[in-house]
Amino acid sequence: MKEIILGIESSCDDTSAAVIADGILLSNVTAGQKVHEAYGGVVPELASRAHQQNILPTVSEALRIAGVSKSELSAIAVTRGPGLLGSLLVGTSFAKGLAIALDIPLIDVNHLHGHVLSHFVRRDENDAVPSFPFLALLISGGNSQLILVESPSEMKIIGKTIDDAAGEAFDKCAKIMGLPYPGGPHIDALAKIGNPLSFKFAKPHIPGLDYSFSGLKTSFLYTIRDGLKNNPDFIEENKADLAASLQKTIIDILIDKLKKAVIETGVKEVAICGGVSANSGVREAIKDYCDKSGLKAWIPAREFTTDNAAMVAMAATFKYKDKDFCDLSLPPFARVEV
Ligand code: KG4
Repeated sequence: MKEIILGIESSCDDTSAAVIADGILLSNVTAGQKVHEAYGGVVPELASRAHQQNILPTVSEALRIAGVSKSELSAIAVTRGPGLLGSLLVGTSFAKGLAIALDIPLIDVNHLHGHVLSHFVRRDENDAVPSFPFLALLISGGNSQLILVESPSEMKIIGKTIDDAAGEAFDKCAKIMGLPYPGGPHIDALAKIGNPLSFKFAKPHIPGLDYSFSGLKTSFLYTIRDGLKNNPDFIEENKADLAASLQKTIIDILIDKLKKAVIETGVKEVAICGGVSANSGVREAIKDYCDKSGLKAWIPAREFTTDNAAMVAMAATFKYKDKDFCDLSLPPFARVEV
């Protein structure tokens, strides 16, 4: 009999549903939310309302594309946290209702585990996956973590940001430049035509494997402020160079600690995940560093970098094998580390 898992993700501002059958991805459908653009950030209450509208059509579409009917499902997987509580409530309530109606198990997934395990999503039997143990660099709008992944359920955070996340550094600096939210992709595009050596921004001196990005943000702000004093068109005239220099500094900070972590753990494989792993410069720099150091680099398809339900269904596939099901009384949670 086939093992068919429906995954549901609603932790932030993307409503996503995916179907994995016997370890192979059959569908992955995501509805984004444009409503937040006008506010320069995700508005939690608006996100919950949009999830409520999107969840049924998104799940129906994922099942339709997969060619699977509800009665064929073996389990329902859902992100239980961390994330925005109102958004998580929509996904978890929907998933619980469906699991009860179909009388099948519910599997809860930690969103961060999902990002790490996105590297195991396969469209084909021949697709390769990482070998344990490996080092994951989780870089998103809310997290920057170095994680030693020993198995699908054993993940140890060995470094994390002590202030802003890498994605926040992209987004906040982009906002200072007047770019739309989220700014990461805009910086990425501008950086392609700018000179990364034009501006120098502060790099943190934090001991160990922890990250910090708030000093960089301040240094970026001062550069803009000083530039505008002499030239009101400073941002417009220098936007590509500012973006390229900012992106290079973020990459240098990320790789610096990654190198240390590789030496400390002795791993042979490195995987990047989370929204910022969509960045062209980050992808190239990680690949380049790994190639030069004899490490295997796992760079996710762009579809799996931002929030998606394929990673949720994948994480649940591992739990399903262990019959690690979720009690229906467990509530969603807003905060937790890996
Ligand atoms: O993982 P994700 O979708 O969810 C959150 O943690 O919210 O990550 C979103 C983050 C945002 O900060 C966004 O600017 C960043 O990922 N991002 C990028 C790129 N695409 C998304 N940052 C830099 N370059 C990109 N191409």
